[in-house]
Amino acid sequence: MSYPYQIKSFEEYKAAYQKSIEDPAGFWEDIANHFTWKKKWASKEDVLRWNFKEPTVEWFKGAKMNITENCLDRHLAERGNQPAIIWEANDPEYPSRILTYKKLHEKVCQFAHVLKNNGVQKGDRVCIYMGMIPRLAIAVLACARIGAVHSVIFGGFSAQSIADRLEDAQATFIITCDGAYRGAKDIPLKSVIDDALIGNKTIKKVIVATRTRTAVSMIKGRDVWWEDEVQHIEDKGITYIEAEEMDAEDPLFILYTSGSTGKPKGVVHTCGGYMIYANYTFVNVFQYQPGQIHFCTADVGWITGHSYVVYGPLSAGATTLMFEGVPTFPDAGRFWDIVDKFKVNILYTAPTAIRSLMGFGLGPLQGKDLSSLKVLGTVGEPINEEAWHWYDENVGKKKCPIVDTWWQTETGACLISNMAGITPAKPSWATLPMPGVQMVLVDENGKEVEGEAGQTVSGNLCVKAPWPGILRTTWGDHERCRTNYFATYDNMYFTGDGALRDKDGNYRITGRVDDVLNVSGHRIGTAEVENAINMHAGVVESAVVGYPHEVKGQGIYAYVIYQGSHAQNTHGSGDLVRKDILQTVTRMIGAIAKPDKIQFVSGLPKTRSGKIMRRILRKIAEGETENLGDTSTLLDPAVVDEILNGRI
Ligand code: WT7
Repeated sequence: MSYPYQIKSFEEYKAAYQKSIEDPAGFWEDIANHFTWKKKWASKEDVLRWNFKEPTVEWFKGAKMNITENCLDRHLAERGNQPAIIWEANDPEYPSRILTYKKLHEKVCQFAHVLKNNGVQKGDRVCIYMGMIPRLAIAVLACARIGAVHSVIFGGFSAQSIADRLEDAQATFIITCDGAYRGAKDIPLKSVIDDALIGNKTIKKVIVATRTRTAVSMIKGRDVWWEDEVQHIEDKGITYIEAEEMDAEDPLFILYTSGSTGKPKGVVHTCGGYMIYANYTFVNVFQYQPGQIHFCTADVGWITGHSYVVYGPLSAGATTLMFEGVPTFPDAGRFWDIVDKFKVNILYTAPTAIRSLMGFGLGPLQGKDLSSLKVLGTVGEPINEEAWHWYDENVGKKKCPIVDTWWQTETGACLISNMAGITPAKPSWATLPMPGVQMVLVDENGKEVEGEAGQTVSGNLCVKAPWPGILRTTWGDHERCRTNYFATYDNMYFTGDGALRDKDGNYRITGRVDDVLNVSGHRIGTAEVENAINMHAGVVESAVVGYPHEVKGQGIYAYVIYQGSHAQNTHGSGDLVRKDILQTVTRMIGAIAKPDKIQFVSGLPKTRSGKIMRRILRKIAEGETENLGDTSTLLDPAVVDEILNGRI
């Protein structure tokens, strides 16, 4: 497979960008022509229809395809025996595994039969809650094969979070594992699912794959074993299933993500546009060359895993490396061991992982051969210069371009990034928009920030026109999609991020401008954490803000009003109450949302109209003691002194 649309020079990038803006339909049509379609779009008019007011965005509507034919079938003749997935287990002693394109195709087809046999139909929502094992990719692709809409939930979410998502998606099937290995931990996935299913009325079947072989309860008529179900298909000698004919605009998956309200949103991506955009950015940002080994360390439970572990690489006929474990298990040299063992060419990870590994010094890198590396990437949060240089010097040995890829669950794949070795890198800057992406900065009134020549300007980051990977809706609530992303500024998609732009058009993301936190590259809404804290008996009110955290990027700081005396009350000391609150948050959302700091307060800084002044709380959490800004409009300014004195 070659990629005729792979950009080879800065000049080519500029020309592609120019064309993509002047003639978006023509630009993406040329690229789409290199994919496998069951039926193509009728005419150029059908390539793109859009209106950001509603919003409606349709790419290649009426064209028919199946993403798995592009990820699997079309590679069989040329690279059937090439590894599609290389899998490395959590335990370094456990055998790693290779699935060739031929094998993966067969396994996806067989599992697609299993889904059908169990009653899954096109359009049904299937929740996938599994660890990072090849069967997770197989489950995802098997859903896509038969046109079921997958909704993968990260293994760190609690039963309550899963229950909420099942309800919202009206999911009818679950695919899970007995358990998952992550570092020194075993996560009892099936048992969490059992808790999530108490009171659930929509789930018909749960398919359980064995991995840890921990004891699980299997309910007759509802729960079936993955292995038994596949055995029935194998016994019949079945290795193929016709791919369901999907409209390019049929939903492919739902992925839940946090916003500034308490309830996560089900971001919906569709088949055609998402495929093209994930593939295009994979091929261009990483400058993937056939035969190379691509290692994206993200879990498939997040969008990064969807687009750069599964769909991007496989649609490009690449070899994708899937790692079950964590960077620090059994020690902080694990990534380097994996790079050495498989001769990894592209390593794509998060700044938080880099910062955490930096903390272990250079020892874990010693004796590891990293000379196979050609390209490094980061994603999920701004990368500080120190981490950038550490990555560049010690991992890339100053020979590997680093791509800083800015994007979001809603954008499907990268919107801003340098292209490895093709467009210039600038440490801690995501740099230039991808072809097809009309980035703008606007002020609070929605006016475009132009800036004078030679100036660096700042503003809120928006996009003026659709690219193929943009979200189409939020599941079950289109109005929410409109108000969240398309109503803040007229005729624009609003990202929720602030950014700078330099004189050369490079962007530097400064962070969220809404009440959304980015903790270790994971998005968490402050309102969601507050709701969880407020569920705890004894909590009267709470306010959650972010503060700079050396490893996580942002930490979670919670101010809590607790009934009675919080220092010593009938439920024990403040520390015990803190632990109880953390337990409640773990139950309601998952351990990833646990506050790093909890400060008990007797009141919160509120305006006369009752609005919490978060600006003050943020400053205090950041360690600011003096310039807290104007506090004269507060109902009770004295509360600020109390909070300042009690800072943790
Ligand atoms: C938010 C999206 C994209 C997949 C992982 C996170 C922040 C993401 C960068 C980057 C600075 C970044 C933004 C964005 N973000 N990449 N390279 N530089 N910030 O996906 O959970 O949807 O979060 O992550 O704030 O809005 P997500």
